[in-house]
Amino acid sequence: MLLHVQRFVVPFEYPVYFTDGVFSPSNGDLAAAVASKEPHRRHRVLPVIDGGVAAAWPTIAEDIARYAGAHAERLSLAADAIVVPGGEAAKNDGAATAALQARLDALGMDRHAFVMIVGGGAVLDMAAYAAATVHRGVRVVRIPTTVLAQADSGVGVKNGVNAFGKKNLLGTFAPPFAVLIDPRFLETLPLRDRVAGMAEAVKVALIRDVRLFSWLSEQAPALAAGALGPLAELVRRSAEIHLRHIASGGDPFELGSARPLDFGHWAAHKLESLTRHRLRHGEAVAIGIALDAVYGELAGVSRAGTAAAVLALLEALGFALWDDALAIAAEGGERLAVLDGLAEFREHLGGELTVTLLEEVGRAREVHVMDERHVTAAIERLRERAGRRAQGGRRAAVAGEADDGGGAARAGGAASGVRS
Ligand SMILES: NC(=O)c1ccc[n+]([C@@H]2O[C@H](COP(=O)([O-])OP(=O)(O)OC[C@H]3O[C@@H](n4cnc5c(N)ncnc54)[C@H](O)[C@@H]3O)[C@@H](O)[C@H]2O)c1
Ligand SMILES: [Zn+2]
Repeated sequence: MLLHVQRFVVPFEYPVYFTDGVFSPSNGDLAAAVASKEPHRRHRVLPVIDGGVAAAWPTIAEDIARYAGAHAERLSLAADAIVVPGGEAAKNDGAATAALQARLDALGMDRHAFVMIVGGGAVLDMAAYAAATVHRGVRVVRIPTTVLAQADSGVGVKNGVNAFGKKNLLGTFAPPFAVLIDPRFLETLPLRDRVAGMAEAVKVALIRDVRLFSWLSEQAPALAAGALGPLAELVRRSAEIHLRHIASGGDPFELGSARPLDFGHWAAHKLESLTRHRLRHGEAVAIGIALDAVYGELAGVSRAGTAAAVLALLEALGFALWDDALAIAAEGGERLAVLDGLAEFREHLGGELTVTLLEEVGRAREVHVMDERHVTAAIERLRERAGRRAQGGRRAAVAGEADDGGGAARAGGAASGVRS
């Protein structure tokens, strides 16, 4: 007997600031964000800082303390800033999550206190997961510091850590209290990470916004060089598309099987595991996008020429579209290990396998079957292309010509397993 159908709707809302010099005392955005719900209270804030950020910005903990002093009527620090290891190690090490949870408990952080996370996508994911699970959710302010985190993960609603050899196995949907994007942080981000983060912007352009695709193509030389002005613009445009998708895509907590923002990700997640995270998330996503773009044409889903346009943009931005991990055979056979990524992706989403492909640039379509022969053929195409580019690069070097910005040289390096 059905007793009752329980139904309620909870509106979510969080401000996303695009700011400059977030910890400079004259900048009121952070204080306003933290005090937005109870402007007349003093709010406890615990800063958690990515180790890579702390190293690149040695005065950051003092800057935050000075900021809290200047805004003392609204903020007080719960403790000195905690510095956690940066990069994927943060998500791979369960002890890092447990240590942070223990610290939140020891400091008496309640559900109205704030964990203010300053860092790349990995630290944001790990620390937000820790915060989401203590008291079933301590408030989180995110201050993303990489291109990827500013353009994509930092403005979204997900967190998580890796476990049992699987990417993002443990995690929650937990909208942040506020997000502050300060492109100044990108000044210290190594070129490799500046480029890697652009993969997610290419992804949203491909599935949603042909104008962004054209803009990325025009700006590709400056972006590949890591120019900060165009990068800030990329971050802003990509973040806006992500936010719009979450708010109006109809499935912010991903209850269905479709996940357009995971275009290119079935292979990417597998490649990250197969390379034990030697590939950055963004680098793996670029390969995953290239693979699905080529697949789309082989499977007759995409308009002719779509894959060529996608590959050309990714290469122009400086991505290597081949990695030897694509050729790793699964245990005991000829079958490629990366193909297992399809089953793992389906399991992670739940329900029916749903993979996003491109009909053309700016327009996506979902499919529920991936033909492994076409996937294998698409991988072979990427290998051949990287080989040709490597040869072209060598010929150019022999002829003493200037390299065309490093793209060919990088593709060749990756093909032989060496990354710059
Ligand atoms: N939650 C989501 O919705 C979502 C979406 C996409 C990606 N992600 C996750 O994000 C992670 C990747 O994040 P990422 O690309 O930001 O890389 P990352 O967090 O691994 O950071 C890369 C490196 O840059 C350092 N760093 C960060 N900011 C810096 C700065 N301003 N100056 C100098 N060094 C700095 C870090 O310490 C690290 O060594 C992956 O784990 C991925 O799964 C999550
Ligand atoms: Zn991603």
